Amino acid sequence: MYTTKITGLGSFVPEQIVTNDDLAKIMDTNDAWIQERTGIKERRHIKKGDGNSTATMGAEAAKIAIERAGLTPDDIDMIIFATLSPDMYFPGCGVQVQELLGMKTIPALDVRNQCSGFIYGVSVADQFIKTGMYTNIVVIGSENHSGGLDMTTRGRSVSVIFGDGAGAAVLTRNETATQGILSTHLHSEGSYAKELSLMGPSTGHWVPELIAEDPKEEIPYFPYMNGQLVFKNAVVRFSEAINEGLQANGLEASAIDMLIPHQANLRIAQFIQKKFGLSDDQVFNNIQKYGNTTAASIPIALTEAWEAGKIKEGDLVVLAAFGSGFTWGSAMIEW
Ligand code: UT7
Repeated sequence: MYTTKITGLGSFVPEQIVTNDDLAKIMDTNDAWIQERTGIKERRHIKKGDGNSTATMGAEAAKIAIERAGLTPDDIDMIIFATLSPDMYFPGCGVQVQELLGMKTIPALDVRNQCSGFIYGVSVADQFIKTGMYTNIVVIGSENHSGGLDMTTRGRSVSVIFGDGAGAAVLTRNETATQGILSTHLHSEGSYAKELSLMGPSTGHWVPELIAEDPKEEIPYFPYMNGQLVFKNAVVRFSEAINEGLQANGLEASAIDMLIPHQANLRIAQFIQKKFGLSDDQVFNNIQKYGNTTAASIPIALTEAWEAGKIKEGDLVVLAAFGSGFTWGSAMIEW
């Protein structure tokens, strides 16, 4: 068996910054509420006509990650693309990246695990690389939330939280060293599927049905989140996923050099930090700048932490996520 190493990281966010005050101009919300409850100060939104989409942002992030890995798109053996906001209902964004980056006819796999999508993608890539089937895989997380949010007061509890952007990592076979991905841990609990969901358009809510239902009170074409229930489950599952990773590797929390939690809510990240007794230097957050970018949040944060020199060779880096599904998981990496 081989091991898998992250050899390149990249991120891309659209230029348009939307502050809390900007949102307060179009819905009944305010900067104090948003910052107090979530830690978010601003987020990025695609501007209609700026040329960005989930697939193009993912391709841009991937391009940077591939270059930083010292590779070209021709060296990549597989694309794994995690998103809940694909450009098209089908096919998935992975094939668009294959086309946009002019790659060979390599496999492209789309992952639909929302906030945990990047960790699921990393885990899948790790299995393909460990067993020797592929050498270089690019794992992408990208989201275009802004176009699909209810930007009125009715949707404020969800729409102030989410932002657009993309991140990517190149995972590469490690021929000799043992360092790299130590283990990944994945979970799901479908009984909570509707608690954080977008019901339609889908085969359960086709467009003609939605039009016929409109303007009913229940609007299944905007995301729904039972915020408090999600919050309560998040703090428990984040902790479990991190503990599972530590136990699997015989490690204590004090061994963590850098925890990159999915950027769902600064309060959740701070709770986890305190629970595991980690210092500010051991946890990286950037939700303040980008809001919750779902599948993109971990690769964007990981890229920024690495760019800031906060991740060094030999560090124990822990990725952890929880979100819609519910799904959750962790990845333990010796950098
Ligand atoms: O990434 C996937 C995982 N996601 C998460 O982990 C998110 C978990 N949940 C949360 O982060 C929090 O539940 C939220 C940030 C979404 C909401 O915070 P909360 O403290 O749970 O607030 P709440 O939903 O209980 O709402 C409290 C009040 C309500 O008013 P009343 O009923 O007390 O009068 C809301 O109507 O705040 C009101 N409210 C707002 N006020 C101003 C809700 N949204 C807003 C808003 N601006 N944007």
